[in-house]
Amino acid sequence: MKYRELGRTGWKVSEVSFGAWAIGGAWGDVNDKESLAALHAALDGGVNFFDTADVYGDGRSERLLAKLRKERKEKFYIATKAGRRLPKQTPEGYSRENLAMWIERSLRNLEMDTIDLLQLHCPPTEVYYRPEVFGVLDDLVKAGKLRHYGVSVEKVEEALKAIEFPGVQTVQIIFNIFRQRPAELFFPEAQRRKVGILARVPLASGMLSGKITRDRKFAKDDHRNFNRHGEAFDRGETFSGVDFETGLHAVEQLRKLIPAQATLAQLALRWILEFPAVTCAIPGAKRPAQVTENIGASDLATLSAGTMKKIRALYNEQIRPLVHSYW
Ligand SMILES: NC(=O)c1ccc[n+]([C@@H]2O[C@H](COP(=O)([O-])OP(=O)(O)OC[C@H]3O[C@@H](n4cnc5c(N)ncnc54)[C@H](OP(=O)(O)O)[C@@H]3O)[C@@H](O)[C@H]2O)c1
Repeated sequence: MKYRELGRTGWKVSEVSFGAWAIGGAWGDVNDKESLAALHAALDGGVNFFDTADVYGDGRSERLLAKLRKERKEKFYIATKAGRRLPKQTPEGYSRENLAMWIERSLRNLEMDTIDLLQLHCPPTEVYYRPEVFGVLDDLVKAGKLRHYGVSVEKVEEALKAIEFPGVQTVQIIFNIFRQRPAELFFPEAQRRKVGILARVPLASGMLSGKITRDRKFAKDDHRNFNRHGEAFDRGETFSGVDFETGLHAVEQLRKLIPAQATLAQLALRWILEFPAVTCAIPGAKRPAQVTENIGASDLATLSAGTMKKIRALYNEQIRPLVHSYW
């Protein structure tokens, strides 16, 4: 495992880290024993950074990470999120009282006194035009409740606006072979300001693992069933906003580019790591074998210029019209 500096935090985090949404909920059935085994496999493979949120399984994901901390001696960082407990997303909902309340709840779930990294959880765009919200976060850092804070965004424009606030240390954004726009304007600006970038949905909800078949049935409580068209939250969060058939078709062509002894999931993650602005990819996983495979991307050789060019061409021809102007 290789490590990269996370913005100005002074932390060195694993370039392949762990996304803990699926072990909380909204991805079909999960069992805590297997989820915990996946978390242990991540630590065994050198992962030292875990991304979660207060709403993943209503705290289940945070509580699993608390359990992991008790079972292991290694130091690792936990990034959680706040904002999605609001019954309806409004900028007013991001008040001092609400933020303090959500953070206290996360501290209890995580069994910690200070949150390593707190991210606003895809708030409405208007929140980025309310400096007072970031002032509250600064106060929570001063009060010792947060070590650092950042944002998780839907759109490139929100990312660009967010990093104007000097306290924002990290931006979490969808970035993968099916979502390439962040690299254009946002990455150079984030690098200039030394802001860490967490690349989320790196496998396009598993599509880029190459293991999803046309006849795969997703459970009722799996967002790949119930959010295909954005019925529950932003449609870009499910398969990265690419429709199922187009995604599967593109995956077939990507298979030809898999390096020897590697897998498609590893190619997809390696592609992300080719961008030095990215601090880490945070693939989700429910099972130890998935974790071990994903971590393997860090040991893969750099992709050739030819492979990078072919992936860009595939994106431009088949995927770009579906996503590029939306986020
Ligand atoms: N708004 C936000 O802030 C937000 C939104 C989305 C995600 N996130 C964060 O980003 C993380 C990653 O995104 P994501 O979990 O949505 O998507 P992802 O990482 O692209 O896909 C994860 C899913 O892909 C499948 N998978 C993973 N590794 C695999 C492998 N090696 N082989 C085959 N299948 C594999 C698993 O599902 P199956 O085995 O069930 O197919 C897994 O749950 C999340 O866990 C969360 O921490 C944040």
